[in-house]
Amino acid sequence: MRAAVTLVMAVGLSVVVGGPVPASADLGDTPVNATIVIPRDAMDHGYATRRVTVSQDGVLSAVNLDSIDHTVTSDATDAGGTPLFSVRVPPGSTLSVPVAGLAAGTYWFHCTFHPSMRGQLIVTGSRGGTTGTLPSFDQALVVPRQVAGRHVRLVQRRAGVRVMPAGPLTRMWTYGGTYPGPTIRRPTGHETDVTVVNRLPRSAGSTSMHLHGDHHASQYDGQPTHSLVRHGRTRTYRYPLTDDGRAEPGSFFWYHDHRMDRTSRNNWNGLQGMMIVDDPAEKRLRLPHGRRDVPLMISERSLDAQNQLIHPAMPTMVMDHGAMSWTGPHAPPNDGIPGERILVNGRYAPHLDVSATRYRLRLLNSSGFSMYDLALSNGRPLVQIGTGDGLLRHPVVRPDILLGPSQRAQVIVDFHGLEGQNVVLTSIPRADATSGTGSRPGAVMEFRVRHAAPDRSRIPTQLPSPALAPAPRHVTHTWHLGLAHGPHGRSYWSIDGKAFDPHRADVTVPLGSVRRWRIVNDTRLTHFVHLHEEQWRTLLRDGRRPPPWERGLEDTWRLDPGESIEVAARFSDYTGLFMLHCHMLDHEDHGMMAQFDVVRR
Ligand code: C2O
Ligand code: CU
Ligand code: CU
Repeated sequence: MRAAVTLVMAVGLSVVVGGPVPASADLGDTPVNATIVIPRDAMDHGYATRRVTVSQDGVLSAVNLDSIDHTVTSDATDAGGTPLFSVRVPPGSTLSVPVAGLAAGTYWFHCTFHPSMRGQLIVTGSRGGTTGTLPSFDQALVVPRQVAGRHVRLVQRRAGVRVMPAGPLTRMWTYGGTYPGPTIRRPTGHETDVTVVNRLPRSAGSTSMHLHGDHHASQYDGQPTHSLVRHGRTRTYRYPLTDDGRAEPGSFFWYHDHRMDRTSRNNWNGLQGMMIVDDPAEKRLRLPHGRRDVPLMISERSLDAQNQLIHPAMPTMVMDHGAMSWTGPHAPPNDGIPGERILVNGRYAPHLDVSATRYRLRLLNSSGFSMYDLALSNGRPLVQIGTGDGLLRHPVVRPDILLGPSQRAQVIVDFHGLEGQNVVLTSIPRADATSGTGSRPGAVMEFRVRHAAPDRSRIPTQLPSPALAPAPRHVTHTWHLGLAHGPHGRSYWSIDGKAFDPHRADVTVPLGSVRRWRIVNDTRLTHFVHLHEEQWRTLLRDGRRPPPWERGLEDTWRLDPGESIEVAARFSDYTGLFMLHCHMLDHEDHGMMAQFDVVRR
């Protein structure tokens, strides 16, 4: 075994931790202590100590030499989903990492805010102790109730939700008494009216519902400051499910709250649901359907010992000559809110009994911050057939699929030959090598493969993918995502240098025109930028043709630090204001949002 005491080079500073390095032979009864060092610019460089060893009676410390918060959090959890150890270390602090009670072994750890920061803890000793365990996947997955009529009524109200397998229900804000709300399922081209009734506690204030991915009029878009659903009132949102006179592509949308400054809170509290738009032409493709077509909303929350939501700390807003900025320990860029437990359709670590056949899974990441790199534990691939906004031209075989907030993927998984086996859907550490923020590791849910069954489904080699807009030669606007610092430690996320202002239109778009937009991430974190109103084709990612799974229609793109994309769409049907923003909901709430105004020429 290597010497346990760690010698560390931190950026611009050398730190010697502990005394002389003992030979492993005379470790004897001396406790072995260690320190995890978080260097300056840890987001870029990771932990300075990627591997530390501590004895069972030793002390593990974490010191943060950076200017922002980081955590030291074990990948492994106990059966209830709580990480074996986790500590949030503010800048300039040294804290103890609670590792007493761990069994000897190797434990991966990461930063929940920047999961690309990863390291290994080696615990030595001969005493027993806890080790990580997979969840027991006790609860059955709930597939949300579907509503299919032309008129849908969603009553927003507080309700108890069975999130954890045991103990009290979790009080949440819901659409219709469940989390997620009912799945709205409609044939494309058929107008759908959704009436939202706000019966939330008065303190929730007014709400605003956005049907994410859909094309509809500005006043039904979930505007953050007007056309709101006031306490005790109702509002009807009208979705024709057409675009430029044609039916929309078959899609996997979702709806969620979009209230100014409170989008993060309102989504955390539960105002989320899914929508499936069916294209009847899909029938002849013989994709898995019925009970073998399963929407999965993956999200995360932190709960207290009574199973109640822990409300994340928020920064303080400061208004200065009409401009917003934020201050305090949770001001940008420290405003990401990871949750401790991964939920699927509102339940922690559920299981689904499946037959040994093909399934169509509609995967949605509805969390406000974390990204998941989804893979199957048995090594089988996910065959991606669509995005949230329609099918891809060809199925794409993928070992794992990275989904950031609000991104969706439609996949086929094949359980043939796996009778009697359990397959865990897992979020793995991000598999592509980048400077990006990283994915949150953890078990998501379990498929329990039961019996063989007849399966008439197939994976077509060619799929009817929606038509793409022509690509204009020149970029008509470049949007820059940024982080800005003001006086007195204030900060805000920005687009084109400015924090969101609901009274300002940042770009004007002639109705009927095709725009080619470039979006650039000038910050050192990953963002997921969402464009409202149209469904877009991706022309370039970092100057190159995008990967095959990004060649359909999209509305939300990952932008790692320094990355850029170019996208194009035709603006049809509606004039008025629409938003674009980062779908990390705290970034959105803290300035990273802008508006474009579609005008008649
Ligand atoms: Cu899914 Cu503007 O949001
Ligand atoms: Cu970090
Ligand atoms: Cu962001």
